[in-house]
Amino acid sequence: MSRTAPHRPRPCFASCDGGAERHLAAELEALGLASVHPAHRGVHFEADRVGLWRVNLHSRLANRVLMPIAEFPAASKEALYGGVRRVSWEQWFDLHRTFAVEAQGTQGRLTHTGHSALVVKDAIADRMRELRGRRPNVDRRRPEVVIHVRLSEGRAVLSLDASGARLHRRGYRREAGEAPLKETLAAGLIARSGWQPGQPFMDPMCGSGTLVIEAALQAAGRAPGLVRLGLGERFACQHWADHDGAAFEATVAEVRGAAKITPTLIVGSDVDPRMVAMARRNAERAGVADLIRFEVRDLVDTEAPAPGPGVLVSNPPYGERLGEVEALRTLYDQLGSVLKHRFSGWTAWILAGEKAPLKAIGLKPETREPLRNGPIRCELASYSLW
Ligand SMILES: C[S@@+](CC[C@H](N)C(=O)[O-])C[C@H]1O[C@@H](n2cnc3c(N)ncnc32)[C@H](O)[C@@H]1O
Repeated sequence: MSRTAPHRPRPCFASCDGGAERHLAAELEALGLASVHPAHRGVHFEADRVGLWRVNLHSRLANRVLMPIAEFPAASKEALYGGVRRVSWEQWFDLHRTFAVEAQGTQGRLTHTGHSALVVKDAIADRMRELRGRRPNVDRRRPEVVIHVRLSEGRAVLSLDASGARLHRRGYRREAGEAPLKETLAAGLIARSGWQPGQPFMDPMCGSGTLVIEAALQAAGRAPGLVRLGLGERFACQHWADHDGAAFEATVAEVRGAAKITPTLIVGSDVDPRMVAMARRNAERAGVADLIRFEVRDLVDTEAPAPGPGVLVSNPPYGERLGEVEALRTLYDQLGSVLKHRFSGWTAWILAGEKAPLKAIGLKPETREPLRNGPIRCELASYSLW
């Protein structure tokens, strides 16, 4: 792959959680991007630099966006080193930027991704030292420029990561309870539920509030990337050598100006007052606290906040620990009874840990899908309550 002018459309790849691919593809199509093709755990598309910015700013489902810049045969360590050293890194980032390399895949004797990443890092540093007399610093914790290498079928694909810190880190969730949902996973559950701003939305076990905050960001018409920028964080592409700061700011201003609130009833409740207080603080940081009604309430006392249709999305406690499953049986039984008797006309989407007694809900699921919340294996079940 030869390097083309930086601002022409280029093939890019947005990664996402498994199962969210077609929803991410729909998101990218709605942004007007070309050549959108869902793949395994991500979506291929074409974008110029403004398109890349838009994905970083708007996507609720992408974990990160990669822009490939070089591809070459790399069956050995020497071939990988040589190929990386031939790339004009000096055109992509300046010496004063910190950088980090992430590797994915293995081939031949390149069996450890950590080792492959080191080979790539050394080749970049050696090239820069040769050309500029000094090498840029590596910062593995908070790098400004992130380089991604994928090894497969005897070839290496080098990409610039346009996002940097994963996009699920919107920045609003500084506090969380046990095993909170990743923000992108929460947005993915909402996308699967088919909920649209304007329809009532509820999470009666809201924990740190991820689901109701993600719904509220949508109802506010607020691009999630604006939250990150508003909290002083940046996207990695803002550190690239050819970054056009003025054009970027103009795009951000345009995205900010396009936000339009759709009046929507959004309710988050939890039995634990500390969780509700935490969820409220997270919502404040996200700038959507006034769009969410927070309540301290036990599930058994929960009622639909409005007549159906409405959408309830929730993830009850996972029941990972020994002895918890019995107690959960009562909770799931209560959940089933609350849904059946008090949420007529609503649909409910329940993300349960694989050990949780989902059957105790006692309702027939419409759909079931295996999913993961980080290391926790889960199942997403949906119920139509009419
Ligand atoms: C797995 S956490 C939810 C995490 C949340 N989705 C997040 O992203 O932070 C489950 C929540 O259910 C709440 N919970 C447990 N029993 C409850 C009950 N009987 N009524 C209401 N909430 C309950 C817990 O306090 C906990 O916050």
